[in-house]
Amino acid sequence: MNYKIIQIQKICDQRGKLIFCEGIKNVPFEIKRVFCIFDTKKNVSRGEHAHRISEQAIICLNGSCHFLLDNGLKKEEIILDNPQMMLFIGKNMWRKMYNFSDNCILMVLASDFYDEKEYIRNYDEFLMGSQLSKHETEHKR
Ligand code: TYD
Repeated sequence: MNYKIIQIQKICDQRGKLIFCEGIKNVPFEIKRVFCIFDTKKNVSRGEHAHRISEQAIICLNGSCHFLLDNGLKKEEIILDNPQMMLFIGKNMWRKMYNFSDNCILMVLASDFYDEKEYIRNYDEFLMGSQLSKHETEHKR
């Protein structure tokens, strides 16, 4: 599975808490783009795509969110509920975000600028890319 949880340092003092992200250092790529997902509605899911090229590192700054991660052969679930957990997702990994808590804020660091052409939004196309036959996968879905 092309993902990992990276534990990031948290600096706490009387004034509050601070975390930091640095490209190539605690984030395993050069950061070219940052976007945030917030004000998510109840019972919605987001994501449901993979990236051909870009890598992402995701921090849940507030609240919690579930991730389904799928490499075409195996699916795993991760819960992000702590700003010290950074979820790194490599290329060619299908992801779905769901079960957003109230006031969930996701910050996403990306290795590339936004380019719709590098998204795979069709699950069958994703599976073909992961070289799994359609017949096999229909039993897993
Ligand atoms: P989308 O990929 O559907 O969001 P999610 O990752 O939650 O599934 O993106 C929603 C819209 O925002 C879509 O029209 C593309 C646009 N968008 C940008 O213009 N720039 C960006 O950096 C991102 C992430 C999305």
